[in-house]
Amino acid sequence: MRATLFGTGYVGLVTGTCLAEVGHDIVCVDVDAGKIAKLNDGVIPIYEPGLQPMVQANHAAGRLRFTTDAAEGISHGEIVFIAVGTPPDGDGDADLRYVVEVARTIGAHITRPTVVVNKSTVPVGTADRVRAVIADELQKRGVDVAFDVVSNPEFLKEGDAVNDCMRPDRIIVGSDSPTAVERLKRLYGPFNRNHERILVMDVRSAELTKYAANAMLATKISFMNEIANVAECVGADVEMVRQGIGSDPRIGWHFIYPGAGYGGSCFPKDVRALSRTAFKCEYRTELLDAVEAVNERQKSHLFELIVRHYGDVEALRGKTFAVWGLAFKPNTDDMREASSRRLLEQLWRAGARVRAFDPEARETTEAIYRDREDFVLCEHANEALEGADALAVVTEWKQFRSPDFSRLRGTLADAAIFDGRNLYHPAEVEAAGIAYYGIGRGRSLRPVSAALASEADGNAGASAAQPGAAAIQ
Ligand code: UDX
Repeated sequence: MRATLFGTGYVGLVTGTCLAEVGHDIVCVDVDAGKIAKLNDGVIPIYEPGLQPMVQANHAAGRLRFTTDAAEGISHGEIVFIAVGTPPDGDGDADLRYVVEVARTIGAHITRPTVVVNKSTVPVGTADRVRAVIADELQKRGVDVAFDVVSNPEFLKEGDAVNDCMRPDRIIVGSDSPTAVERLKRLYGPFNRNHERILVMDVRSAELTKYAANAMLATKISFMNEIANVAECVGADVEMVRQGIGSDPRIGWHFIYPGAGYGGSCFPKDVRALSRTAFKCEYRTELLDAVEAVNERQKSHLFELIVRHYGDVEALRGKTFAVWGLAFKPNTDDMREASSRRLLEQLWRAGARVRAFDPEARETTEAIYRDREDFVLCEHANEALEGADALAVVTEWKQFRSPDFSRLRGTLADAAIFDGRNLYHPAEVEAAGIAYYGIGRGRSLRPVSAALASEADGNAGASAAQPGAAAIQ
């Protein structure tokens, strides 16, 4: 089939490439001429495992083309996707400027019945808006062309997007038009082998499904981070608790990893946008607001552990911290809402210096933090350790998993590791003579748990519980 995608960002490029991979004839349109020129040269603007060779192969085979010519794109596709960005605007809403612009362009150019598919993450009700914009343009042209607007949200994970796209858990098609549903079923047929993955529903339910999925996942993470903080208070180890609850199939193993908070282009933005949508309907999303508040607090937690170790913020002045991992998660170079940014900025504010390493996020980090004399971006993990007093791990890249702790003991002047992703076994690190702080590992807060114990013995009023409890606020 012939399909066109507007937007060669993350979603548009991965989706277009995977559709070409299964034999469809795809045109990708973008207003950014520089990007289109690069794509035509086989250069991918993002880091995504497996994507580059797939783009090159399909481009060479003539099934995947890139252009800035919107009219050409629209005349090509029986199905036209809107896959442009919906960045947060100042109020926490999704900014629909680009979606509306593409809708206008579609309305200005279609000449035959077209199925318009919205793949961008957009608030509930946007399909209606897109429909109105296209109808308005057609009216201005004085023509009557049939078109449908379908909601078909994407569920790609950065770092594993090609795989997610080629082997989707489900394909949500939100439409009340049998013609549009039929066309999308044909388009997605090659991804729908073995068992039925296409779920047809009304447009608004499809739009809400995307937000509900991301909000649910974010909720699991914030819940676990909350439990981790309680574990620190009471002297329990959240890693044991995680295994204890994950084995219950109703809870499951996924997305219950405590850490330095969630980041990226989706969770923070989508949780806020869903809350805003509900608020406009005069409903307060108490749970979602708490999910976001817990995450905001969690992003500062690693810094709080550092301060706790050194006694006070003043003690950090002049210290040098090695930071391993900057991207919001492994296998991406994406720095959007990355937890590392909070840590770096807090360290700098405290007068500390940072030597950081990330396997992929070099350029994206340089684009944010340029020419800082208190920041060195290193080429290797070991280079970041040179002259460092302590190490903080923020992103769980595989290569950080098994360092030589005795070597670290010799390198880090203050012999301390702050493990924001619970990569290490506290006992192993401590056995090497290094102080270990993880997320929710009760061992780093023994005085507080001792206070609880004395309360249990009948010695209530243990004031020692207070400093620890206050520190995790
Ligand atoms: C997410 C959704 O997974 C995807 O379905 C949706 O389409 C877009 O948003 P992505 O933003 O690429 O994908 O990242 P994801 O792998 O979901 O991780 C999000 C954040 O949560 C990362 O910062 C990660 O470190 C954090 N996380 C994830 C945890 O802190 N704990 C976990 O258990 C899982």
